Amino acid sequence: MNALVTALRARPTTGFLVGAGISVAAGYPDFRSKDGIYARTAHLQLPYPEALFDITYFRKHPQTFFTAAKGVAREDLGPTHAHSFIKAVQEQGLLEVVITQNIDGLERKAGISAEKLIEPHGSNASSSCIDCGADFPNAEMRKLLHKGEIAYCKHCGGLAKPNVVFFGEPIRMNALEVRRRVEKCDLFIIMGTSLVVQPVASIAEYPDKKAVRVLINRETLPKFRPRENDILLQADCDAVCKEAKDRLGWTTSAS
Ligand code: OAD
Repeated sequence: MNALVTALRARPTTGFLVGAGISVAAGYPDFRSKDGIYARTAHLQLPYPEALFDITYFRKHPQTFFTAAKGVAREDLGPTHAHSFIKAVQEQGLLEVVITQNIDGLERKAGISAEKLIEPHGSNASSSCIDCGADFPNAEMRKLLHKGEIAYCKHCGGLAKPNVVFFGEPIRMNALEVRRRVEKCDLFIIMGTSLVVQPVASIAEYPDKKAVRVLINRETLPKFRPRENDILLQADCDAVCKEAKDRLGWTTSAS
């Protein structure tokens, strides 16, 4: 913790790579923890857990996704201390980039600016048809998700879903731009992600060897390849972010 605060006092150009763990305190489950989405949907008897977000499986079994989403789709949840910490880094003028695998929109709700934000797995802020690509009204999508009912495109009758990237769909990320921005960072904070889903997981390897990487996760990650100058914090990311913000005396304006 001291090492993280010291690193931030040097006013480094800072980047983040984050995952579902940063939204757990808000009330969203993560994916792979004991009480994560994949454990919660085990009763659906999917061929493999990620089939829930697989485009081929979705085409054949759309009801499964809409049934599972019924328990998870929420609009009433707000940003966590982790989001607020990222916002504070932005307000200090230190933020280069935030790469989030999350689709819950809490970074935007926290006030993190669109130019700083890269959402490779898409976002639930809009919806569209998987066949003709026509926009589907998002307010209506939310109602259907709450009821657990399938959304059909009003133009072609195909299946519609939130603009969240499913396995088998192209990722929304310009890899060269991501690399360029991550390489600019003196400090790169990775938190709340299991680093198992590619290609995003490999972004953890992009920081320059001279940069300091910080890994904040409540479990150790077998896939993470430590470097000598890493700061490894096996801890709750909200607790770490709150303490860092408090010790630095950083406050955030309302978003
Ligand atoms: P995972 O569920 O795989 O990993 C979340 C990680 O955060 C785990 O290692 C948890 O231990 C950790 N964690 C949970 N709560 C935490 C907390 N309060 N403090 C610190 N650590 C905490 O979620 P992601 O890595 O985000 O993709 O998953 C990546 C992708 O897999 C998702 O974007 C999604 C999923 O399948 C698609 O659906 C395309």
